[in-house]
Amino acid sequence: MLLVNANNLIAFLNGNSGNKTAMKERIKLGYEGAFSNHVTRYDSLAAEYQKKAAIAQLSGMDLKDKEIIDIGCGSGIISLLALEMGVRTAVCGDISEYMLKLAEENSRVAGYDSTRISFCQLDAESLPFEDNCFDAVITGMSFGLFPDQEKAVREMYRILKPGGLVSLGAHGPEHYWEAIDTNIRALDKRHVLGYRFEFWPRTERQIVKLMKTNGFRDIQTNRFIWRNLFSTPSDACDFFAAVSSNWWYAKIPEQKRDHEYDKVKQLFERRGIRRVTDDVIIGYGEKPSSDS
Ligand SMILES: C[S@@+](CC[C@H](N)C(=O)[O-])C[C@H]1O[C@@H](n2cnc3c(N)ncnc32)[C@H](O)[C@@H]1O
Repeated sequence: MLLVNANNLIAFLNGNSGNKTAMKERIKLGYEGAFSNHVTRYDSLAAEYQKKAAIAQLSGMDLKDKEIIDIGCGSGIISLLALEMGVRTAVCGDISEYMLKLAEENSRVAGYDSTRISFCQLDAESLPFEDNCFDAVITGMSFGLFPDQEKAVREMYRILKPGGLVSLGAHGPEHYWEAIDTNIRALDKRHVLGYRFEFWPRTERQIVKLMKTNGFRDIQTNRFIWRNLFSTPSDACDFFAAVSSNWWYAKIPEQKRDHEYDKVKQLFERRGIRRVTDDVIIGYGEKPSSDS
């Protein structure tokens, strides 16, 4: 954890973490499979674990007959669950065209058509929708990848109808720490030093503040921690590579990627890393209705 924080500090000092446009582009490319093909196995490697977080995030929400948007939808796990819970329509929004294709395919297999679910390539920080048009805005396991989280929360508020609900799933301080720590130890430091790894951790207090200062009311939070245990260190390593779109945070030349990945995997094995922590912080809130 210390190594990751130190690296983030260097990224801040050298200005790299200030270049949000470049980071966002790397994240987009990562989830389109530009740095490794692990995202092509997103569902087989990660869906089981992502679904646990989605269930925790949606349980207790009254979504029946609502029109919702799922920002950073990935392969559509949250939207499909919300449809099962009775939402009228879901918009799946993601910056990656490839992830949207996965979501579209999964919704087709689940039997939904365009009267219930639609797909939109978008950037969470600049949403292509009018003001006040959704009953609920949901984002899960993606918030930590938005470089300007303040802007993203403002956009969520803007597109919500008065009285609408937000459910914001962020990453807590322990999220994936074993995998991140092993990656940064194994990788050639020239490629990662000074490139910020992520935009978490977020504490419940920070989430409440972010939501409150952007107008939300009746804010509540929940935190869930799971220790996901994989059969082998190699499985744990592949899971992290898929879910994090492998190395969006690094500058590894293409010809060195296989070699660097072997080093990461070998270190997972040497250290016996089979456990990867999920630390999920969920903020719920409401956009005040016009008469309140
Ligand atoms: C870890 S995946 C989570 C996906 C899904 N919500 C789940 O629970 O499995 C993160 C997703 O956020 C998307 N994403 C990252 N930055 C984004 C942005 N600025 N706007 C919209 N989507 C973004 C990625 O393309 C990726 O599909």
